[in-house]
Amino acid sequence: MLRIQNRLPDRYLDASSEQLDEWIATAKHTLGDRVFILGHHYQRDEVMKWADARGDSFRLSVLAQERPDADYIVFCGVHFMAESADILTAEHQKVILPDLNAGCSMADIDEVTEAWESLAEVVDIERLVPITYMNSSAALKAFVGEHGGAVCTSTNAKAVLEWALDKGDKVLFFPDQHLGRNSGLAMGYGHEDMRVWNPRQELGGLTDADCKDATLLLWKGHCSVHQRFTTDHIDAFRAEHPDGIVITHPECSYEVCEAADQVGSTDFIIRAVAAAPVGSTIAIGTEVHLVNRLNDETPDKTVVSLDPLVCPCSTMFRIDAPHLAWVLEALVDGRVVNQITVDAATTKWAKVALERMLSIT
Ligand code: 13P
Ligand code: SF4
Repeated sequence: MLRIQNRLPDRYLDASSEQLDEWIATAKHTLGDRVFILGHHYQRDEVMKWADARGDSFRLSVLAQERPDADYIVFCGVHFMAESADILTAEHQKVILPDLNAGCSMADIDEVTEAWESLAEVVDIERLVPITYMNSSAALKAFVGEHGGAVCTSTNAKAVLEWALDKGDKVLFFPDQHLGRNSGLAMGYGHEDMRVWNPRQELGGLTDADCKDATLLLWKGHCSVHQRFTTDHIDAFRAEHPDGIVITHPECSYEVCEAADQVGSTDFIIRAVAAAPVGSTIAIGTEVHLVNRLNDETPDKTVVSLDPLVCPCSTMFRIDAPHLAWVLEALVDGRVVNQITVDAATTKWAKVALERMLSIT
């Protein structure tokens, strides 16, 4: 989806980091409780230090919902997260994304209706339950809600899939094939029970028999950050640190998750580092800003990226101090820039999918 972020005024682009800090601090102070700044764990430090709350994508939306006194929610994260916050917050609250180009290639997918219609010609569509990861657009969450399905997070994917397979015969899982596969394997399903649906091909690149036989149809999507980690990285880390601990996010491939010592969501990773014995060396397969922050904030342990060359999430990285200063100063001037709104019909059905998840877990 194309969203255009206009160039910032030169004042912000030319400012030193000290000036930007001063402007952000002054604007934040002036706005007081009317503004609530949320920072996803993958944000850079120059942004994260201003966050009133940190969290993973779902937790941040819930936190926004718990602050109805805040007129403005400045969401330092990516577009789908800001949409979820808009869906869950009250009518009077405005959600702001400091850079409109902070999207997510995995979350922004189309071709969903076409896939559903193609599958309806081959399988009993009433028995097919669509499930989408929290990391998806509001439109996809709404599609899922309208078609009897639910949202899941990386923490509760297994429970949501169990619910879905109790309700129907098979699941169409969006948009991250790795989370779908890792969750299916953890539930005891084998690779033979799963097929990857390639939206670029006729009938997802599958035969009628594939569609009928599969219990889990996995949308061919992935997170470009987590898919980079390989078992070679794990072998290299273990060769250097035989007692080291490897923890990966379930958006990594199943080979990587199988070879890791522990697998879990962003929130799980933070707790696992806290619980590891003092003196441990821990390699983490997730976005590098969280890894570096865990290393800085846990001085009695060594926390490193599983891939020494890993790059940050390029879209999360778009949110920086100049954009944060710009949106906050605009609010002080009475202008709401970069508001993210989800229309009423989409909100209605996306909420249904989110509420189903909450009632399952
Ligand atoms: P969580 O924040 O839900 O752990 O998702 C990971 C991620 O990739 C966020 O973009
Ligand atoms: Fe999307 Fe992955 Fe970046 Fe999260 S880390 S925003 S899933 S590309």
